[in-house]
Amino acid sequence: MALKNINPTKTQAWQKLTNHFNDHKDITIKELYKDVNRKAHFSLEFEDLLVDFSKNRITKETLDLLVELAKEVDLKDAIEKQFSGEVINVTEGRAVLHTALRSNSEEPVFMDGKNIKPQIQAALRKIRSFSNKVISGKWKGYTGKSITDIVNIGIGGSDLGPDMVVESLQYYKNQLTTHFVSNIDGDHVSEVMKKLNPETTLFVIVSKTFTTQETITNAETLKNWFLKSATIFDIPKHFVAVSTNLEAVDNFGIDKSNVFPMWNWVGGRFSLWSAVGLSISLSVGFDNYRALLDGAEEMDIHFRSEDFDKNIPVVLALLSIWYNNFYKAETEAVLPYSQYLKKLPDYLQQAIMESNGKGVDRNGDQIDYQTGTIVWGSTGTNMQHAFMQLVHQGTKLIPTDFIGYKESLYGLTDHHKKLMANYYGQMEALAFGKSKEEVHLELKFAGNEDKISQLLPFKIFEGNRPSNAILFDKLTPRSLGKLIALYEHKIYTQGILWNIYSYDQFGVELGKELAKKLLNKQS
Ligand code: F6P
Repeated sequence: MALKNINPTKTQAWQKLTNHFNDHKDITIKELYKDVNRKAHFSLEFEDLLVDFSKNRITKETLDLLVELAKEVDLKDAIEKQFSGEVINVTEGRAVLHTALRSNSEEPVFMDGKNIKPQIQAALRKIRSFSNKVISGKWKGYTGKSITDIVNIGIGGSDLGPDMVVESLQYYKNQLTTHFVSNIDGDHVSEVMKKLNPETTLFVIVSKTFTTQETITNAETLKNWFLKSATIFDIPKHFVAVSTNLEAVDNFGIDKSNVFPMWNWVGGRFSLWSAVGLSISLSVGFDNYRALLDGAEEMDIHFRSEDFDKNIPVVLALLSIWYNNFYKAETEAVLPYSQYLKKLPDYLQQAIMESNGKGVDRNGDQIDYQTGTIVWGSTGTNMQHAFMQLVHQGTKLIPTDFIGYKESLYGLTDHHKKLMANYYGQMEALAFGKSKEEVHLELKFAGNEDKISQLLPFKIFEGNRPSNAILFDKLTPRSLGKLIALYEHKIYTQGILWNIYSYDQFGVELGKELAKKLLNKQS
């Protein structure tokens, strides 16, 4: 059974939310904070994760009505359909089963009458055994030397996920150096090539379709470069592929035994949990890769089983809808207070915007309400010295997610104390601001009485700017898996509420087609 088609704006809950918004839209976080128990009432804890969403323009009634909306569009049914392998990606005729890739449970998931779990386990065993051989140095290049460098060749979901995770897990990295080549811009591959020795480099070509112009062009360039020093008989020792398109992989000259499987029921931007994550396993070892999957699975179980008002991805999705559809906020910022997570905003841009940037609903009708939010961000504290001025004092409402860790990895406590003071300080400033009276007093005490009337308006922070504190104990492969899965489920929840299909991406096609036509004209 397909997903239900319910226009959210025609539901009773939406009507109630509209009335509620009209009555409460001027509410301030400062007023709401008069409730001394607010933090406790608007925080959710799940294992090593604490999400404090008390600094939002919501009351208990807002949350109840948003939950009512989720129930009225039958989110529960949609979640079950995803996990059980129904064809919820209707426009492409596919199931969506990235959750099955990380599942440790015995529960079978059937595709065309066949349980897919055994093939997932087999792929994981192949990833483990290959990673172990390369990392231990047993896998030799064509001159008998061990591998020192990995090059992941892919783009979009075949690049952003592995690249972001390898960067985020730098602390857990082994001796191998991992490079990522994605852009069709030849300067990208040229810069990477400069750093490589063909004798000790392993190329991992990742492309679900194995037809993507960028990936195939980069792979051909690297193969030709490799063949300047080696012969075609050496290719099996240096080139492996991750793809569904076995014929194209074979035509490229890759040995059958060097092909890692991909499946149509895994979307590109949700694929780092499949063999697309091979460079992750090579970079941090299979056990850490498995821990990443385990963390994601923990979030899957939470998402699938928890009541909506205690369900972290659901609550974050509902808050985002509240701002996007009622306050008409257009963007959201993701602000990790960890330098390791500097690539997370880029990764989330594809995950969120390729999924929910849709203007047609599940009936095929044009939508007259806002869908996909624009997501952007950067790491704290660097961004405090860049774009935060606009978030604090600009004219736009920008809900923010602050991602932080209680413990630092290298244990430089002085640094970490300062980092976290900034993490909390920013959220407090956004929520509570600085009033006219406070600024007045401040200027007076600073002996600037003569300048008060001139400076006063510029120094006021109106506050009332919402934020969520997403706080983990520590950055580990497991907690990272949980964080990524949290955003994946937030995406799906929003897609269901907006009555759109989150798992297709036809919007990327036209530009590609036109580029091909232009190229053919030129040649
Ligand atoms: O540009 C869109 C897209 O199809 C993404 O969804 C996908 O992640 C990327 O291209 C790469 O596709 P492939 O893995 O088939 O090379």
